[in-house]
Amino acid sequence: MNNLLKTYNFSNFVIVKGNGCYLYTADNKKLLDFSAGVAVNSLGYNHSTVKKTIQEQLKTGITHLAGSQIHLYKYKLSQLLSKESNKGDVFFSNSGAESIEAALKIARNFGSSKGRDEIIAMTSSFHGRTIGALSVGSNKAYKSNIGPVPGKVKFCKFNDSKNLKQLINKKTLAIIIEFIQGDGGINICNKEFAKTIKEICKKRKILLIADEIQGGIGRTGKIFAYKHYGVSPDIITSAKGLGSGIPIGATIVKKDIAKNISVGFHGSTFGGGMLQTRVALNVLKTINKISFLKNVTSKGVLLEKLLKKLKSDHQVINDVRIKGLMAGIEFKNNNTALKIYKDVSKNGLVTTLVKGNIIRITPPLIIKNEELKKGIAIISSCLEQI
Ligand SMILES: Cc1ncc(COP(=O)(O)O)c(C=O)c1O
Repeated sequence: MNNLLKTYNFSNFVIVKGNGCYLYTADNKKLLDFSAGVAVNSLGYNHSTVKKTIQEQLKTGITHLAGSQIHLYKYKLSQLLSKESNKGDVFFSNSGAESIEAALKIARNFGSSKGRDEIIAMTSSFHGRTIGALSVGSNKAYKSNIGPVPGKVKFCKFNDSKNLKQLINKKTLAIIIEFIQGDGGINICNKEFAKTIKEICKKRKILLIADEIQGGIGRTGKIFAYKHYGVSPDIITSAKGLGSGIPIGATIVKKDIAKNISVGFHGSTFGGGMLQTRVALNVLKTINKISFLKNVTSKGVLLEKLLKKLKSDHQVINDVRIKGLMAGIEFKNNNTALKIYKDVSKNGLVTTLVKGNIIRITPPLIIKNEELKKGIAIISSCLEQI
């Protein structure tokens, strides 16, 4: 019994500690984590960088400072995020949905000055659970019975250039996309669709908003997933892996749009606090190294090989999709997916289930080859039992 609002299917074990890619339960079970708190704990658990940074910060006696108060870490983190992306200015918040809210406000503000008010989002998209973020998310179940969500939003079939061209008009202000869709079931943007988006945005002066909340910060082997596509988004949202477990959101806005933003336009009490920006700065520095990112890519190659073998060995699997360390196993039916998801959990492997029939794999980026093999072996042995 607890007093938690039943917004989740809660796990039936209590977690008491974590180390590397493992979680430990109150009854001494060791769980291999193929979820990382849903693509959040990018450096796993008990990572020396995160731990040391928190300890160092506590020595200053400060965890929180107001948005207007300047400290070194929010300066440095904004500089690094900017340098590694679109050279824009950064607004800090506390979560993915908040970084989307800021992006939508900024884009809509820019659009209104040009007489434009329509946004194009994608099918199978997910951008968060606040009302603004839900307006650009395609899952109708998430927005039923809450009244109208704001804004004029059209949904383009993901990876369908023809559909995109049909939806564009002179009122279109922005296109918002996860280049690798997470909650939608690990759907990978194809190069041709990205090229169409790039051309349309340039020709029609439409803003490109890249949601990098799940696919960013090294998850796909590049610091941002959009970098696989040769595009330069006007607005980029980041969260999840950026803080490796410490809540932070960031919205990076190209200079020519940022210059329209004035004092009081937006704000956040906790956004840009000293603790979270200091941790995120060190997390970003750790991940944003050629060797680290190469390692993610090569582990992704191994995982892809293992997943393809899994598919060829088991007829119940319909498809496997992967980019770096972001993968999905799509089952032919929901019941099998649910059974395997529960069985692997009983056998010490944490995953997430999305769309009812897809097991999502987003392990800590520091996972070792042997741990990937071990996790896939657990899935394989559960599949053999059915
Ligand atoms: C692509 C994407 N955007 C936005 C969000 C919302 O992030 P948060 O849950 O931190 O609000 C998520 C969370 O899963 C996400 O995957």
